[in-house]
Amino acid sequence: MSNTPQRYTITAALPYTNGPIHIGHLAGVYVPADIYARYLRMQGNDVAFVCGSDEHGVPITIKAKKEGVTPQDIVDKYDGIIRKSFEDFGVSFDNYSRTSAKVHHDTASAFFKKMYEDGKFIEETTQQLYDEKAGQFLADRFVTGNCPKCGNEEAYGDQCESCGTSLNATDLINPKSAITGEVPTLKETRHWFLPLDQYQEWLDEWIVKGHAHDWKSNVHGQVKSWLNDGLRARAVTRDLDWGIPVPVEGGDGKVLYVWFDAPIGYISSTKEWAEREGKDWEPYWKDEKTKLVHFIGKDNIVFHCIIFPVMLKAHGEYILPENVPANEFLNLEGKKLSTSKNWAVWLHEYLEDFPNQQDVLRYVLTANAPEAKDNDFTWKDFQARNNNELVAIFGNFINRVVVLTNKYYSGIVPKPNDYSEVDEQTVTELKAYPAVIASSIEKYRFREAQGELMNLARLGNKYLADEEPWKLIKTDEERVKTVMYVALQIASALATLSEPFLPFSSTKLQKMLNFTDAESQLSGKEYSQWDKIATRDSLLPAGHQIGKAELLFSKIEDAQMQQQLDKLEATKTANAAENNKVEPQKETATFEDFTKMDLRVGTIIEAHKLPKTKKLMVIKVDTGLDQRTVVSGIAEHYKAEEIIGKKVTVLANLAPRKLRGVESQGMILMTENSAGKLVFVNPDEDGVEPGTTIN
Ligand code: 2FM
Ligand code: ZN
Repeated sequence: MSNTPQRYTITAALPYTNGPIHIGHLAGVYVPADIYARYLRMQGNDVAFVCGSDEHGVPITIKAKKEGVTPQDIVDKYDGIIRKSFEDFGVSFDNYSRTSAKVHHDTASAFFKKMYEDGKFIEETTQQLYDEKAGQFLADRFVTGNCPKCGNEEAYGDQCESCGTSLNATDLINPKSAITGEVPTLKETRHWFLPLDQYQEWLDEWIVKGHAHDWKSNVHGQVKSWLNDGLRARAVTRDLDWGIPVPVEGGDGKVLYVWFDAPIGYISSTKEWAEREGKDWEPYWKDEKTKLVHFIGKDNIVFHCIIFPVMLKAHGEYILPENVPANEFLNLEGKKLSTSKNWAVWLHEYLEDFPNQQDVLRYVLTANAPEAKDNDFTWKDFQARNNNELVAIFGNFINRVVVLTNKYYSGIVPKPNDYSEVDEQTVTELKAYPAVIASSIEKYRFREAQGELMNLARLGNKYLADEEPWKLIKTDEERVKTVMYVALQIASALATLSEPFLPFSSTKLQKMLNFTDAESQLSGKEYSQWDKIATRDSLLPAGHQIGKAELLFSKIEDAQMQQQLDKLEATKTANAAENNKVEPQKETATFEDFTKMDLRVGTIIEAHKLPKTKKLMVIKVDTGLDQRTVVSGIAEHYKAEEIIGKKVTVLANLAPRKLRGVESQGMILMTENSAGKLVFVNPDEDGVEPGTTIN
């Protein structure tokens, strides 16, 4: 913990404005970023915490097309909803901007222009995927296909979300247009490319060697693996009409790639804030002493650790991130959160069902934060953490202290007598907490930090339970004064230290303890509030008047949880009905087309999961012709030992292709049952409905 003020630029991923935000966003990015920013401000640092709406990019265009409105209509609607959710949940941005703002268009255009003029791009005509039916080039999310790295069948044209790899659309195996479902053709087009390969060595020095110990291992490991695979040039312009026009000759009809403009949004947001506050934005982005920290989810690692740093470096005037503490993903009741499948707890809906209980959600999401691995949010855990921790430990301690102080001393902090050994020990422990919590926060371990905050509440609870002032009051009034004084100091420390985690409850508690008045009685302002706990004898001095008790947290009943579970059950039913919709019949195939396919019965003789993949299984099949290897994406549905000996249908003359370095010499036909499990083609299998396609 340091007392020298430091300048920080803290960014939180700009959310796409194609939908509201849910608990996954809050847990992965915005709550940790907010804890960090609040803590740093309390330590007296100079903080710019910026974010904004990411309003370009294909998902927005797709949503607009689907709803028959303009992309502008979509971004206006969701910018409003998202902005409100952040405010409602106390995410304390210094500025929340939009990438449609003029300041952003100007900043991103100027950034591109400078790089262009300095010769940092390669300009090239290449063949890109094209949808003849839609009359449009297909990039990014306009095209899906199989990931060449992990086999994920739903990889996008710019990234596979399953393994995180960044892709060029032409890398996809079996590409399909997301607009018409057509197989794309190739068409020539001219674009500007960022030659990432030229920065490979520099990235290796800076991240792989330079940040091996201070960056989270999930982030460092991913970067290392991409660098091992080798970087390639990447187009930073697109043939689209929604986005920031390419500001150089030959750029007509083209826009900047959304992942080129979006991170520059952090800079534009800082400019907007500085302008409003009468500050200079430049030191926040250009002074080497400034610490730049990006909070993101794991799907954004490649963009923040490779592409944006290369842009900043190539531009030449900017600092680089000091850290990128990316989180893994949060699941909901065991299933991946999904906006399109409505499998989510939406923030605006949460507040309708749990009014004024923002801190409960913040608390549970931090207690269960996906910091090192994917984690699961369950309503059962939510209820248990509220009832057994916030209510029974934190709330109960505060309530006892405030009620008893009012009852025994009309709310006036009593003058303590000499401390007993237990009091000394308790106060010593109390004074250690600010440094312990600070150290965890500074290491981006917010879950651990919040755990320590609760340990302080536990210390208070135990102290009161052991000392039993409610019994002692009948026999030793003087001792009770000391006990209540010590307990009030713990309550006061909790009011301060809880602020980054539970900002609403902290404010309520500070009001309850009448902090503004307490401040005026203490002399000297040389320590920040946080440090004061360790250095001052008294946080709430004797004679200080506190307020009346108010409940900080309230019990959540089973019926409320059942209501949430029923809601999810209804979503499941709706999704199952949607899944069971039979796909329309494909174009007619001639008998000749059919006879081209060599379908054989085979027996699985060996199988093993492909290491470092989630889905891929390497299977040896006896086809009668030979024994060959097939790589199949079934590892999440079967264990290797379960499938040995199974008879399967094999498409034997499918052109061989390599998946994660293993050549697949054919395809085993699979279908999906109504529970979403992949099963071997056998129409008699349970849950395989008429109309289900065979792939
Ligand atoms: O993944 C997303 O939601 C992106 N909109 C994040 C953008 S972060 C940035 F660089 F602006
Ligand atoms: Zn992949």
